[in-house]
Amino acid sequence: MPERDGCIKFIKISVVYFVIGVVLGYYMSVAHAYNLTGVHVHINLLGWTSMTLAGILYTLFPKTEASILGKVHFWLHNIGLPLMMLGLFFLLQGNNSLELLIPVGATMVLIAVILFAINILKNLKKEDVQALFNK
Ligand code: HEM
Repeated sequence: MPERDGCIKFIKISVVYFVIGVVLGYYMSVAHAYNLTGVHVHINLLGWTSMTLAGILYTLFPKTEASILGKVHFWLHNIGLPLMMLGLFFLLQGNNSLELLIPVGATMVLIAVILFAINILKNLKKEDVQALFNK
């Protein structure tokens, strides 16, 4: 991925999840389809909120974005979440034919989040934070 692309992609993808999440919430309210709450909350929290926050942190702290951990986080999160949501959507509609996608996707997202945490713990230094305020 070209330099500085990761943070922009995270933020742009997150706003797409935001739209999907609120459209689904709106549909659930109108149609009383509360069985889909599990999909709605994960799209909003893992898609919109978490990806926006990750994108902002990668923007503020380029060393974390440049790390291989940041790149692997991006791909695992962005492949795992849609797989998990697809499987969960079908399952909550009473169709378990895609159920396997839930543990597969969830494991990818879990690893993605752990790598993200390691990256921040390892590559975010006090001087990077200080540099933000000294510009
Ligand atoms: C137009 C925007 C939204 C609408 C119309 C909407 C609608 C809904 C509906 C109908 C439910 C189900 C309530 C129930 O099962 O009793 C729900 C649950 C929930 N929503 Fe949203 N939502 C919106 C935006 C968001 C956003 C932006 C987030 C988070 C970033 C969010 C997080 C949640 C959570 C965590 C729950 C589960 C609450 C619980 O089960 O206690 N929602 N929403």
